[in-house]
Formats: sequence, C-alpha cells, structure tokens
Amino acid sequence: EKGGYEHFMLKEMYEQPKAIADTFSPRIKDGRIVIEELGMSEEEIRDIQKIMIVACGSASHVGYSGKYILEGLARIPVEVDMASEFRYRNPILDEHTLVIVVSQSGETADTLAALRESKKRGARVLGIVNVVGSSIAREADNVMYTWAGPEIAVATTKAYSAQLISMYLLAMKFAQVKGRLSEEETASMLEDLKALPAQVEMLLNNKENIQKFANRYLAAKDVFFIGRGIDHAISMEGSLKLKEISYIHSEAYAAGELKHGTISLVEEGTLVAAVLTQKELYKKMISNMEEVRTRGAFVMAVTCEGNTEVERAADYVIYIPETNPYFANSLAIIPLQLFAYYIAVGRGCDVDKPRNLAKSVTVE
Ligand code: M6R
Repeated sequence: EKGGYEHFMLKEMYEQPKAIADTFSPRIKDGRIVIEELGMSEEEIRDIQKIMIVACGSASHVGYSGKYILEGLARIPVEVDMASEFRYRNPILDEHTLVIVVSQSGETADTLAALRESKKRGARVLGIVNVVGSSIAREADNVMYTWAGPEIAVATTKAYSAQLISMYLLAMKFAQVKGRLSEEETASMLEDLKALPAQVEMLLNNKENIQKFANRYLAAKDVFFIGRGIDHAISMEGSLKLKEISYIHSEAYAAGELKHGTISLVEEGTLVAAVLTQKELYKKMISNMEEVRTRGAFVMAVTCEGNTEVERAADYVIYIPETNPYFANSLAIIPLQLFAYYIAVGRGCDVDKPRNLAKSVTVE
C-alpha cells in the first residue's frame, strides 16, 4: 500500500502536487475564488474584526503563515494560538471574531476543546480539516476541507501543504471581498497558484542531492532553523519535521532574535538552516547568516532562484523557483521535508512511526 515507496512519508511527500491542486481547483471559478463551504455572505466577511487561528503542532505553523497572508492581503488582525494554551488564557473573542481551527485528523483533543470554547463565547468557527466527518468537521460552523486524502505517516507533509493552500484561498477571498485585490493581482496570483504543483514536483525530484547532503549531517547534535517574517513560520515547520522523526535537537528562531541568547549555542560545525524567500529581507538574513558563520556554523540556505548573493554567506544553497512571495512557503518546505526524511532514514529511525508520538493526539 506504500505504492513502491520505502515509507508512507515519502509517498505522501510525492502526493503533494496532487493535494495542492485538489485543494485549490474546486475553489477557482472563472478567475475568482469561490469557497461555498465558507457559508458567509460578503457582509459577514466585511464584519470580521479579528481572526484567531487555533491549532497544534504543524497545523499551528500553518496558522503563523496564515497570519502573514491574511493580515498582508486582507488587513484583518490575526492572532495565532496553540490550542493547548488558548482555552486557559481567557481569550477575548465575540461574534465579530472568526476562529479558524486547523487540523488534519479533526480529532485533536485540544483543538476540539478550543473550538467548543470559541462557540460558547459566541464566535463563528471555521474548520480547515482533512478527515471528512471527523469531530472537528462535525462541530465547526463551517468546514473547508483540505483534499489531501488519507495521511498515514505521523509526520504531516501533504496535509500541511494542503492547509497552506486553504489559507492562501481564504486570504485572497477576504481580500477580494474587502476590495483589496484587483483583478490583475488576482489573475497573477492564480497563475502562481496553478504553477505550484509542477514546481513542487520539480523540487521533489532533487531528492538525491538532498540525500547526499543529509548524509553528511547524520551525527548533528543541534540544528537551528532561522528565517524572518513568513520564513520564520516555515522554519518552525522545518525544525519540527527534523526533530520529530530524526530525534536530533532542533530549534527555529526568528533570525533577528538569535543574538539575544541562542547564538551562544553555535559552535564549530553547528548546522544552521536559513530560509530567505522574501526579497526585502535578503540583506538582513545574509547578515544573520554571516553572524553564525563567523562563529563556525555550517550554513544551508533555501532561497529563490536568482539570489546568488546568498552564496557568499552559505555553504550549501537550495534554490526554489520564483512565485508570489506569499506562496513561497509551499516551495521552501519541500527541501526541508526531504532533509528531515533523509536524516531520519540515514540514522535508521522509524520514519513513519517515531517514538512517543501518535498520528492523532486525542488526549489533552
Ligand atoms: O491532526 P492535527 O492536524 O490536529 O494534528 C496536529 C499535530 O499533532 C500534528 O500536526 C503534529 O505536530 C505532526 N506530527 C507534525 O508532523
């Protein structure tokens, strides 16, 4: 049932182009974003004063990406919370708040509890869910399904990618309704969206190079992932992927925050993975990379084609194709998933079923 792949995780990584296309295709009609399941009138969308995205683990990383996109495009303030924290902090929300709960399984106990708490307080709850008919799908006011298909590996890949797409669609929809996205901008974004599946496929096909590189780092003790803005969100996901399946300690940091403490952990040979997909932040990122490199770090960079300037501050560079800056997460995550995967394979770990973890966490 692994379809010739060695692990479910690899198979599911390879299913990402399809998961991405299946999630956006039914929601694009005649050059417009149409999300019928949203069940909200234009007036109701204009009435949203605040969005709260609540989720756990990788799904919460989608929330951090979503915050940048929703705020950037639709100019609606967004808060992101880990579901396990949300319920105990007496959150401020009312009927003008849209709570978005994100969950692959639709059964995560903390996320479900956060959903119930939100409804009790009068907010509208939208679920971004992968498993059809799951508890979260049943209890949310509205459900936008990610059409990734069943995901078996504990480490999420294709569901995560489909969740990102859902965030893009929502942000574009809200921006359209609020008159913040012109027809030309929409058309160009849709073109970039439609190009993603083939671009993801191309990045997946670079797996041998990433495997070779990963094999040099099988004994790594600590790995730091750094990025700014939306690239910080993807760094969190890259870091979680690595630690959960390879058992190598890793952390994600907002690149500018590193020198407020964590940089003291960088020593000769420490691997630092830098993600820089946002042009206006290239220079700042390169100087952060130089900071760690002068302290002996080995720097791996993920950046957009054409940013060859990065080569002076990195030891190993992976280029991703040009896309809309808001969509770059969908491409940058692919080499990071492959890197985590091959490190785990090289270390002989149980990739699909890492120790101490369950596919869905149904206890609080
Ligand atoms: O089923 P959910 O999306 O609600 O699960 C949330 C997290 O448990 C999940 O994303 C977890 O962090 C993954 N193992 C990460 O790969």
